[in-house]
Amino acid sequence: MKILILGSGGREYSIARAISSESEAHELFFMPGNGATNSLGTNLNIKDYEELAAYAKINEIELTIVGPEAPLVDGVVDIFKSHGLIIFGPSKEAAQLEGSKVYMKNFLAKYNIPTARYIETSSIEDAFKFADTLLAPIVVKADGLCGGKGVIIAQNHDEAKVAISEMLSGKSFGDAGLKVIVEEFLDGYELSMFAVCDGDDYILLPAAQDHKRLLDNDEGPNTGGMGAYAPTPLVDEELYQKVRDRVIRPTLDGMKKEGAPFQGVLFLGIMVVNGEPITLEFNVRFGDPECEILMPLMTSSVSDMFYKASTNKLSEIKVEFSKQFAVGVVMASGNYPYGSSTPAEIIVDNVNHEEIEKYTHISYAGVSEEDGVLYADGGRVLVCVGIGENIKEARNRAYLRCGQVHFAGKKIRTDIAYQAL
Ligand code: AMP
Ligand code: GLY
Repeated sequence: MKILILGSGGREYSIARAISSESEAHELFFMPGNGATNSLGTNLNIKDYEELAAYAKINEIELTIVGPEAPLVDGVVDIFKSHGLIIFGPSKEAAQLEGSKVYMKNFLAKYNIPTARYIETSSIEDAFKFADTLLAPIVVKADGLCGGKGVIIAQNHDEAKVAISEMLSGKSFGDAGLKVIVEEFLDGYELSMFAVCDGDDYILLPAAQDHKRLLDNDEGPNTGGMGAYAPTPLVDEELYQKVRDRVIRPTLDGMKKEGAPFQGVLFLGIMVVNGEPITLEFNVRFGDPECEILMPLMTSSVSDMFYKASTNKLSEIKVEFSKQFAVGVVMASGNYPYGSSTPAEIIVDNVNHEEIEKYTHISYAGVSEEDGVLYADGGRVLVCVGIGENIKEARNRAYLRCGQVHFAGKKIRTDIAYQAL
């Protein structure tokens, strides 16, 4: 099959890697891809979605998979569909579940899906008044997309008021902050769950745990994610069932009623409080680095899952997962997440160790290529993935692989999956 993948990260690389390994008959294209995806297919440089759809049409692309949220919120799916193309991802309207926190919170409230108590407002007085009814810490969120930075956990009421004022005045996040959510702080443990949806049906993938902070022991600033593992033992059958019944099913039914059936990845940010799943947020795409550890756990065809989800036929297939565990350790560049770093040559030692060869691999993200040499030139450069019969084995293998990758300034956390061990 000819498949186009939108995006440039480790997430998109891992999807491509999984698809490439199922059949040599697949031909892959990336827009824009990265310095390593061009070894799996052809990188394109067509930024305009209409032009890209025309390219897909002429080149008989049979399936397009969208990795990141920005093109979804911009409506790339609607454009491709208007040209009769098959594309995996939610419509512009359904992408509001991630694109607007106000839309998401109001949707959750309307369909009785448990979420933190909140107010949605653009009035500073109302926001302050509601904050006064909450105990600290207090959570303040900007409405729009802020590159993962739009959530402030204020430690006291004064801090919350500063955050509210700065958002509503447009000072901290521009237009994205002109409406805010003020909500109660939920104290529990956080999970990422992913449901691949076709509008009616869905496949729930094994639950994962991400590590958002830069440094060991969950210290330092927030990042896009420094490592992840799956499945997590923190979720038992009962909790999966609660998530299915209380979150995913009502969401799919609700979106259909709203006239925006949800097709694509529904990424559930869940806080488990006293055994109950409370929805913190939705994203409308795979998590990164969660995708990098979920793709290698799939034993049935990845391309077929995306194709069937895009054509509303998920009920026709059985998606299967390995009984193994996967751990992914992100290797970031020196100045991440504060700024960019000078591109540094990446040296990967020759693997002549059977265990490493068989049970580990690298998903490349922020890399460029010149004359066959890879350079680290993004924040999160790559993810070393280890697979094992248990989390400990998978993690040891991932770290063995990390020891074989070198570039100036490389930075990793050394405690990925600690919650499970
Ligand atoms: P979001 O972008 O909504 O996922 O928020 C980013 C992070 O802030 C989440 O992953 C949580 O760790 C934290 N967070 C968001 N909302 C809450 C809440 N109501 N209570 C506690 N933590 C929260
Ligand atoms: N790893 C979290 C995210 O992709 O949002």
